[in-house]
Amino acid sequence: MNKKKGRVFSGARPTGRQHLGNYLGAIRNYVALQDDYECIYCIVDLHALTTLEDTSQLREWTYEMALDWLAAGIDPEGRGTILFVQSHVPEVTQLHTLLSMVTPLGRLTRLPTFKEKVRQHPEDVNYGLVGYPVLMAADITLYKADTIPVGVDQTPHLEFTRDIVRRFNQRYGEVLIEPEPEYTDFPKVLGLDGEQKMSKSLGNYIEIAASPDEIEARVMTMVTDPQRRRLSDPGRPEICNVFTLHGYFSAGEVEQIAVDCRHADIGCVQCKKLLAENLAAYFAPFRERRAELADEPGRVWQVLEEGATRASDIASRVMKEVREAVKLP
Ligand code: TRP
Repeated sequence: MNKKKGRVFSGARPTGRQHLGNYLGAIRNYVALQDDYECIYCIVDLHALTTLEDTSQLREWTYEMALDWLAAGIDPEGRGTILFVQSHVPEVTQLHTLLSMVTPLGRLTRLPTFKEKVRQHPEDVNYGLVGYPVLMAADITLYKADTIPVGVDQTPHLEFTRDIVRRFNQRYGEVLIEPEPEYTDFPKVLGLDGEQKMSKSLGNYIEIAASPDEIEARVMTMVTDPQRRRLSDPGRPEICNVFTLHGYFSAGEVEQIAVDCRHADIGCVQCKKLLAENLAAYFAPFRERRAELADEPGRVWQVLEEGATRASDIASRVMKEVREAVKLP
């Protein structure tokens, strides 16, 4: 194996079947990083609990998400990537406790990400929610990861992690690694409404595992240029979300589509049909791999268990060092 640049760690909450926003914003980047880095990807079920009262679907969401990731090219078998479920490696909760001792409370309550969560869930501001960034810092440092691919919305959490690592190392000795964020091309993918970010809770999404018929039905509901009421009205591709998606999934045809839209040589319905076809074709190999994986009973859970075993190896070694540094008896 050729020399890899460093160790990547990233986490995502279990949200079930993944949509185009998840794919363009994270998954395809996670897949690409496997070429250059040793990669550890974690389904952060404990983080999900901070804002989730009804946990009845947690297992299913974890399964569906892992299935999508594996089918999309997260590759534990071929490329040595570790894919696992956060709570399967309990050392993270121990490190969380130790990191909490060097975390000033005000540092947490001042975080914009915390304030936003309080705004969204004012009736449930629990202790776990305040500690969310500490748990994230524990995720990262437990695996001595140096490179963290995240969206810019996670900047405060990364800065927090770096800060806590410095405090910890200052008090107990140089044990933990200060990670660097890796902000790659994370486009903000809009939903079918063309206004809000594509998200599961808003229902404005297209699942990457959708069948060609489902894809077409969803694409047909997409909002296009509102000024284009008749077929003969010229369109403005630069403000049309259908066109934005063509940019990702209609390689080689994008420029022609823009010209045809501006000249009203193509109507919105025809333009959407083309997008639906291209999306269905783009994800055809993915759907095939997904079906194969889903067909083997227990396969996904087995991959996740193997991931947890390999993650545990690293975690127990790092925790030994940490315990010694803290001088726990
Ligand atoms: N907070 C991250 C998010 O909402 C998820 C996360 C948890 C994470 N632990 C992490 C991301 C460790 C990167 C590294 O997207």
